[in-house]
Amino acid sequence: MKILLHTPHAEDAPEWIAALERALPAAHVRRWSPGDTAEADYAVLWRPPAELFVRRDNLRAMFVLGAGVDALLALERRAPGTLPSGVPLVRLEDAGMAEQMAEYAIYAALRYMRRFDEYELAQRENAGAAPWRPLEPHARDAFHIGVMGLGMLGAHVAKRLADLGLSVRGYSRSKKTIEGVTTFAGASALPTFLDGLKLVVNLLPSTPDTEGILNRDLFARLAQGAYLVNLARGTHLVEAHLIEALDTGRLAAATLDVFAQEPLPAAHPFWRMPRVTITPHISALTLREPAVRQIARKIEALARGETIGGIVDLDRGY
Ligand code: NAP
Ligand code: GLV
Repeated sequence: MKILLHTPHAEDAPEWIAALERALPAAHVRRWSPGDTAEADYAVLWRPPAELFVRRDNLRAMFVLGAGVDALLALERRAPGTLPSGVPLVRLEDAGMAEQMAEYAIYAALRYMRRFDEYELAQRENAGAAPWRPLEPHARDAFHIGVMGLGMLGAHVAKRLADLGLSVRGYSRSKKTIEGVTTFAGASALPTFLDGLKLVVNLLPSTPDTEGILNRDLFARLAQGAYLVNLARGTHLVEAHLIEALDTGRLAAATLDVFAQEPLPAAHPFWRMPRVTITPHISALTLREPAVRQIARKIEALARGETIGGIVDLDRGY
């Protein structure tokens, strides 16, 4: 069995190759390099160039080393026919990412609910002379948290927040049942879901339907002085609307892990906005061992003629 690997960083490749060959002893894994059109049965990919897909119609499946497939689907939108037709595109399902997302979201929610962000700011701005001023925490019962996207990651995040006794709502395309979470489904339910939320956690996939969804109209439906936590994609957020909402106080603060342009350019205002906390796309990292285990199990299942989870619906975009 021949597996073609593409990781953006050459230095990662040997460890991925070793892990894949350990999990699939019959496999020979090679790192793709420009000009390589030699035969392969499977591809394991993160941020591949369009050129990799030339003459790849014989692949049995393409596995993405992440949960989001928007970058790959964007290649296809820009140049239809780039992706080999009829070859299943398979994304990671959790593979250790859901709990990382839960840790991040819980940290952000508690930080804002207990107003630690404001104490951090006071200390930073008035080192040695910070006023000794206890702030009233936000009332727990009124600190309604909304999780947008209730898939592999969002459903787990919503459940873990609800397990802390917090007030949690969830929003998805199709109706979900999650213990302790009030769920809403479909675009017509979005206004009710948003109504009076104090904190929004975004875990939607980036698709033509969801791009720009974190915008002025959405912010207007939240509680005054609400918080935004974007953990999904930068394309979801209209950055100018966030800046405006922070300036007017409509939003109190935002924590952003993803950006329209990554790495975030040095001149970008987010670097210098005291109410914006940024992290470099680390809310859920791809973990090598669980990712490889999952891909290996799926390759074995396909070889047995079984169906597998995580196949991307190209029309839906996720
Ligand atoms: P997923 O399992 O495919 O779940 C997507 C969820 O979003 C589903 O609940 C889906 O609804 C819902 N959804 C999709 N389109 C919608 C729409 N138009 N309106 C309402 N709900 C909609 O995806 P996942 O594995 O949870 O991952 C979510 C995203 O997280 C990824 O696409 C990626 O962009 C991002 N991510 C970021 C990082 C990071 O480090 N920052 C790491 C991993 C993933 P249905 O359930 O009804 O289909
Ligand atoms: C990372 O952003 C992923 O989609 O897995």
